[in-house]
Amino acid sequence: MSEPTLKIGLAGFGNVGAGVYKNLAKNRHLLRERTGCHLEVARIAVRDPAKPRPIPLPAGLVTTDLGELVEDPEISIVVELIGGTDQAFEFVRAALERGKAVVTGNKALLAERGHDLFAIAEACGRPIHYEAAVAGGIPIIKTVQEALVGNHIQSVVGIINGTSNYILTRMSESGISYGEALAEAQSLGYAEADPALDVNGWDAAHKAIILASLSYGRWVPCDRVHVEGVEDIRGEDVAFAERLGYTVKLLGVIRLHEDSGAIEVRVQPSLIPSRHILASVGGAYNAIAVRGDIVGETLFYGSGAGQDPTSSSVIADIADAAMWSAPARGAGLATHSLYGEPLPIAESVSKYYLRVEAEDRPGVLARIAAVLGECGIGILSVIQPEDHDEAYASIVLMLHYATYGVALDALGRIAELDCVRDRPVLLRVEDVG
Ligand code: HSE
Repeated sequence: MSEPTLKIGLAGFGNVGAGVYKNLAKNRHLLRERTGCHLEVARIAVRDPAKPRPIPLPAGLVTTDLGELVEDPEISIVVELIGGTDQAFEFVRAALERGKAVVTGNKALLAERGHDLFAIAEACGRPIHYEAAVAGGIPIIKTVQEALVGNHIQSVVGIINGTSNYILTRMSESGISYGEALAEAQSLGYAEADPALDVNGWDAAHKAIILASLSYGRWVPCDRVHVEGVEDIRGEDVAFAERLGYTVKLLGVIRLHEDSGAIEVRVQPSLIPSRHILASVGGAYNAIAVRGDIVGETLFYGSGAGQDPTSSSVIADIADAAMWSAPARGAGLATHSLYGEPLPIAESVSKYYLRVEAEDRPGVLARIAAVLGECGIGILSVIQPEDHDEAYASIVLMLHYATYGVALDALGRIAELDCVRDRPVLLRVEDVG
């Protein structure tokens, strides 16, 4: 049986819209296997088709009329990535009223008009998916909405603006000025079309309002949210905070006060202890700590801005919308077909930590190094602490990349040397970052 084709109307071909088009094409086979549908971008609406773009507009799909997307009965999913609120609101409303599933990454639209839009969606019996609206590629919407559905959410504290975090990180680590750091963030595609929203805190505030709505069911009005951005942060304050053991981060805070029932929603540059895990979140990365009454503390980390991470979230929503529009599989999204064979452990590669307890006499280190050399394993560094008082010394070597099979062979040969006491310790050094 051939899979159904679901037609998508894509509104907006900026940084994220172009990424969605590019990555839908890149992973189309995988998506077909997982959704059971062929996902086809059938129409793309843009304001200015003549504008030069890094990813060219596909000929034949382009219109300047948003109405064509909602009026086309063959399009079942519309993706709104045009930004702004008024035109986007009318577009989403029209799409819902014409029976389309809607995917949007527009946090300002949801924060300012979410109350009305979700009422329209409810009345129309059509969904709005919005994973890309908060924290780029981190699946925080589905997490709070679905995975934590059984919890009262006690607090959500997060770094939810990649541009601000990039600026603070660069000011702290490289000592460059606020203006230079902002220019870098813009050139890397992290900033909004209007970067004022990033640096004045409102991009984060829109996301905080969305997270509050998921946590507490209430769309907190924008004028009830206290918002400060990073634009007045000075390099000397970042440096003084560091001397005191703190790191400056722009935090979105959403917290329920159980005694009064009040909901605190705010965005402010804040000092957090440098040893706290959120302090290590650098660059355009985002991280969100969610505390629920059953689950306790959880933390979600990832790329919070940029073309590919954000388009990953939009594509996840398109797949959800596809499951909703034309469920091709009884059990929802499926695993894809098999890739490759399980790798034999002996063929896996890493660096290694090796500790050898060996006699403290001339030539011992050379014999160990000789074994490693014969096995083709390079040595990255060596430590032999002086403060031992026995005839045996600990020799610690950091070893270069080698297969596990070769490393075990070397380990066995070193263990057999008559100058070595006990079995040497071999631990893998994993590439995690
Ligand atoms: N401009 C936003 C940011 C993009 O810097 O986080 C993701 O919403």
